[in-house]
Amino acid sequence: MATSIRIAASILAADFSRLGAEIEAVEQAGADLIHVDVMDGHFVPNITIGAPVVKALRPHAKKPFDVHLMISPVDPFLEDFADAGADGITVHPEAGPHIHRTLQVVRSLRKKPGVVLNPGTPVDRIDPVLDLVDLVLIMTVNPGFGGQTFIASQLKKIEATANRIAKTGREIALEVDGGINPQTAKQVIAAGANVLVAGTAVFKGGAKNYAANIAALRG
Ligand code: DX5
Ligand code: ZN
Repeated sequence: MATSIRIAASILAADFSRLGAEIEAVEQAGADLIHVDVMDGHFVPNITIGAPVVKALRPHAKKPFDVHLMISPVDPFLEDFADAGADGITVHPEAGPHIHRTLQVVRSLRKKPGVVLNPGTPVDRIDPVLDLVDLVLIMTVNPGFGGQTFIASQLKKIEATANRIAKTGREIALEVDGGINPQTAKQVIAAGANVLVAGTAVFKGGAKNYAANIAALRG
């Protein structure tokens, strides 16, 4: 069970003056994916990085780049992030007028499409697009910032999502994002999650701690 859990290190909590080195360190320490949070100060109340930075960072990693787009409108930027080296591109249904079309475009760019639900977004939003995605991401905080407190009410949504995924018979990753630490990791894994995004819990204490921090999340 524990071996099937993948850890996506969110570089939002890394030292932004040394992002390339941080990515190398966290990969060396056992991260399975590099989670990149793209924020525009409009869809969410914070601004991070854009496609040029993703492109500059991509050669520093061997592991897949899991790009979480918190920008609106999202459609005009899909190709930029694909070209920058994203492997997965995850989008919020609220970030554009046609989530189905957006996911089709991601697939046509030969990237793994993901759909992400905010804490206030009902689980049935995934039903019309489940056949299009390789990943469902359930937010366990409101998007915009690292270091927030896990919202336990989302555990039921994780379970409901796991049930929906099981019914498809397809391999769809179930990822969670926000407030993940060794304690909440246990809860989300029990609810059916198999990819855990973690920023604060991975990067705390500096590079000497990364391997132990990641191991602690696998349970
Ligand atoms: C929040 C981001 C998260 C964030 C998680 O909007 O989507 O990926 O980095 O940070 P922690 O793990 O600190 O809650
Ligand atoms: Zn994220």
